Amino acid sequence: MNKQHVLILLLAIALLVTTFKNQNDDPKDDGNINISKKEALFSVIFNRKSVRKFTNQKVSMEQLDTIMKAGMAAPSGHDARPWQFVAITDRNVMLKLRKNLKWARGLDESTAAIIVCGDMNKIDPRNPEFWITDTSAATQNMLLAIEAMGLGGVWSTLYPGPERMEYARQVLGLPSYIMPLCVIPIGYPTGVEKPKDKYDKNNIHWESW
Ligand SMILES: Cc1cc2nc3c(=O)[nH]c(=O)nc-3n(C[C@H](O)[C@H](O)[C@H](O)COP(=O)(O)O)c2cc1C
Repeated sequence: MNKQHVLILLLAIALLVTTFKNQNDDPKDDGNINISKKEALFSVIFNRKSVRKFTNQKVSMEQLDTIMKAGMAAPSGHDARPWQFVAITDRNVMLKLRKNLKWARGLDESTAAIIVCGDMNKIDPRNPEFWITDTSAATQNMLLAIEAMGLGGVWSTLYPGPERMEYARQVLGLPSYIMPLCVIPIGYPTGVEKPKDKYDKNNIHWESW
């Protein structure tokens, strides 16, 4: 066997190994994929907690984009998708917001924040109030994405406080048809906050009340 043959043989082996490996990596070939998906999802759901204490490690724009993408995957009434997001990485803007938002404690240390808003130009007239539930669904998706990405965040109220909403409108230059629902301060958690077990059988009513 000359050198060329050895080389071709080695290439063929490499190709076979790669093909075999890719087949094994294919989720469709893995009968247990649903179990691991379920475990991953429940781990995120049950480990999510409100995080208000952060390290000084920065959150990237790519990470923020992924979080907003998760927000936009939420369900919405009439599929109206009436959400808009304002992403902030400037500490000065976060501190300015914090100045008049006494409940938004997470902004003290967050390295990023996203303001979740409803767009009154996108609401369906059959159910205009759906903007609140739709943006809330988007917010929960984002909080779960934040947890899954090893970050922390907390839903900090703007709606339904008219003064809080107006203040956010001023600081962020929101047009009149944009309603801010909440601000989510985001950052790397210090680890002090822990998830709570909130399961309570008394909240569950089978078949009827
Ligand atoms: C509608 C809503 C408004 C909230 N507003 C604030 C807030 O303004 N500031 C804050 O620190 N946390 C706020 N939270 C977070 C709650 O305090 C938190 O979810 C609750 O204490 C349960 O804790 P957990 O998120 O760690 O499970 C809000 C949560 C929701 C759903």
